[in-house]
Order: sequence, then C-alpha cells, then structure tokens
Amino acid sequence: MKVLVLGAGGREHALAWSLAASPLVDKLYAAPGNAGIAEEATCLPFDVMDFARITQFCKDERIGFVMVGPEAPLCAGIVDHLEANGIAAFGPNKSAARLEGSKAFMKELCARHNIPTAAFGRFTDLDAASRFIDAQNPPIVVKADGLAAGKGVIIAETREAAKAAASGMLSGGLGAAGREVVIEEFMAGEELSYFALADGTTLLELDAAQDHKRVFDGDQGPNTGGMGAYSPAPLGTQTLKDQIRARIAQPLVDGLAEAGVPYKGVLFAGIMVTRDGPKLLEINCRFGDPETQVLMPRLMSDPLPALIAARDGALKHVSLRWHDEAALCVVLASNGYPGAYQKGTVIRGLDAAAQIPNVTIFHAGTKRRDDGALLSDGGRVLNVVGKGATVKAAQDAAYAAVARIDWPEGFCRRDIGWRAVKR
Ligand code: AMP
Ligand code: GLY
Repeated sequence: MKVLVLGAGGREHALAWSLAASPLVDKLYAAPGNAGIAEEATCLPFDVMDFARITQFCKDERIGFVMVGPEAPLCAGIVDHLEANGIAAFGPNKSAARLEGSKAFMKELCARHNIPTAAFGRFTDLDAASRFIDAQNPPIVVKADGLAAGKGVIIAETREAAKAAASGMLSGGLGAAGREVVIEEFMAGEELSYFALADGTTLLELDAAQDHKRVFDGDQGPNTGGMGAYSPAPLGTQTLKDQIRARIAQPLVDGLAEAGVPYKGVLFAGIMVTRDGPKLLEINCRFGDPETQVLMPRLMSDPLPALIAARDGALKHVSLRWHDEAALCVVLASNGYPGAYQKGTVIRGLDAAAQIPNVTIFHAGTKRRDDGALLSDGGRVLNVVGKGATVKAAQDAAYAAVARIDWPEGFCRRDIGWRAVKR
C-alpha cells in the first residue's frame, strides 16, 4: 500500500519512521516533510492546507491511506475532503474535530455528559466576561475559543489580569480564534497526556505520556508546543487510565456518536490529575508533539493496521503491544523560541549523536542545504529520544546524544523527566 503522511514536525517524523518499518507499506510519501522525514519518505512540496493538490496527488498515485498529523487541516475538514474523493484518511472529520477546534463545543459536551472538567463560562461580550471574572477566585484561566497555536491560554493571577486577557482576545488580539472566550476555574495538579484510538464507538488505549510545556527548566516561563516528553509516565497508572477512559474518553466518544458525529482518529486528552481525580483540560484531535516521539519507539506492533481500523470502524479486532522500556525526548529549539528566532543556522554533530546506543533523533524544523548541511527551519528543530530500562536511563541516553550536537543557535531544557526521576 502507498501511504502519505501530512505534516512537517517531529510528530510526523516519528509517525513516518514507524510507518516506514511496516511490511504493509510499499511506498511512503510525506508532505511537506522535513530533512529527517526525507530519509524515510519521498517528500512533496505541498502545504497541508492545499487540499486540492493533495487530493489530486492521492488520486494520481493511488494512495491507499493518508495519515494526517496536525490539527489545522483536520479542523478545516481535510478528512471529509479526501473521503469524498474516495481516499481513505486517518483522523476526525470536520464536525468531530471541533472537540479541539472549539473549546466551547468541547466544554458543552462535557457539561451534557457529566465529564469532569473545570467549571466554565463562555463569552463574546467583555462586560459579561468581566462580571463572571468578578465572581471567580484567582488564578483564573482565560482561553480563546478557537485554535491559537498554543498562545490561546492565559493563567491570570489577578481578576484585573484576567479581564485584560479577555479584553485582548475579544478585541481581536488573536484574530478569529478569540471572538469567543472561555473562562474557567484553575485546576491544581499534575498533567498527563492520555491517548486512545477511536473508531466512532470503540476505544483502543495507547500508552500515556507526560510532556513539559514550559520553556525553561523547573517548568518556568511561557508555554510552548512542548520542550520534552517521556513515556511511560509513572503518574499514568493503569487504575488512573481506567478512570480516564471510563469517566472522560468513552463518554466523549459516546456523546459524539449520540450527536451523530462519530469520532474517528486519535483522541488525545490533556488531563489534570487533581486531588479529586482526573479532570479534562483539553482534547486534541491529533497525536501529541513531542509525545508521539516517545510513543512510537515504544510501540512493538505495526501501527498501520490499528490506524486503518480506526478509520474503518474495526478497532475491536485490534490490539497493540508495547515495549516495557521507557523513552524520553529532549526538544532542541532555536534560541528565542517561543518568541522570535532565527532560521537557517547550521547544525552539526547529528551523526555522532545518533551513534549513542538507544538513541533515535527525529527532526522537526530542519532542511538540507544543497551542499548537504543541515539547517534549522523552525522554532522546535530536533527531538533527541533516548530509551532505557528506566526513565533515568532514557534521560541519560538522550542527554549524552544532546552533548554531541553542535548548534550554538539552539537550546534545550536540561531537566526533562525530572518528576519521573524524582519519583
Ligand atoms: P490547553 O491548551 O487548554 O491545554 O491549555 C494549555 C495549558 O494551560 C495546559 O496544558 C495547562 O498547563 C494550562 N491550563 C489550561 N487550563 C487550565 C486550568 N483550568 N487549570 C490549570 N491549568 C490549566
Ligand atoms: N504536547 C502537547 C501537544 O501536542 O499539544
């Protein structure tokens, strides 16, 4: 079968790496890909939002399955578009992708099905939002309703800061994403990334992971797309995962099926593990980044049959096996990220880094210069993944490889996995 992976990040490199090893895959393509994905797949210079061009390519090349990586094309309806043209694709359709694309939609579904999540209000009007904020105890969480590339959530320490955040969003600071805001109760606890494949009715649980969203060591500084991750997460015991499945993931899938929008694809639940049990922070309608970079190396089974079964509504026939070993990913990012950064800087030492035993390197924002030099081409640039018997061993392997990478214009956190190691 010919398979096309859409996307250009570390998540897509990990997916392509895993799919390239599948005996079912005769030929792997990626669009647009990156310098690392180019080692696994033939890369095509198509934008993931160029549905017409992607569809034409799939028809011409008789692509058997399209694996969609990022949320933007899913929320814009790429799966509807491909399927309408007879092309099988992984991921929720446009209606179901609203679980990620609209926080208000997700929160209403939780309210209707008693799914534990933060208490909330939704507003398009600043006066009403301000009155609601006056009735809350800080910290207060203010979120843009729509997709805002990780910039749509502000945790305000005072009511004034919460009002300023709501005002900024409602007055167009984040464009259309902030036309409606969701204001919610702050939940204290530790975060877990829970993953399950869904086929409209049945869930197939994947292993869980933890990521580090803040840019600086000690989980300080602004939020990013994710600076590192590890799996298994010691926090994610089977008991906890069973609770998440029973109280959150299955009710969401059932609720959507009942509403006539069956959810197919991966259900990525951001969970806050509070003193009162797991509560839902957010749903993502795609795989996590960098969580996928630690899940794929731990997956013993071929992922392709499971991904196709999710699309076909046949997950009840599938099971997956996992390696017991831990995997830990350190993200290397361009200096300045998540703010402004330079592109096109030269990265050296990757071959030497990859020679450290139990290390795999996935690329994110990279490209090749004509002379073969590797250049940075984004905010998050490389994902160095170590494996080991414990999270600590995986961490040692990853940082030993990081030490061999020569890239003065980049940085990484030095403490990925600290919570798991402390436990
Ligand atoms: P979200 O995009 O909704 O996942 O929010 C991004 C990050 O903000 C989450 O991963 C949490 O760290 C934090 N966050 C969001 N909502 C809340 C909340 N209600 N209570 C505490 N932290 C939150
Ligand atoms: N690492 C979190 C995310 O993919 O949204």
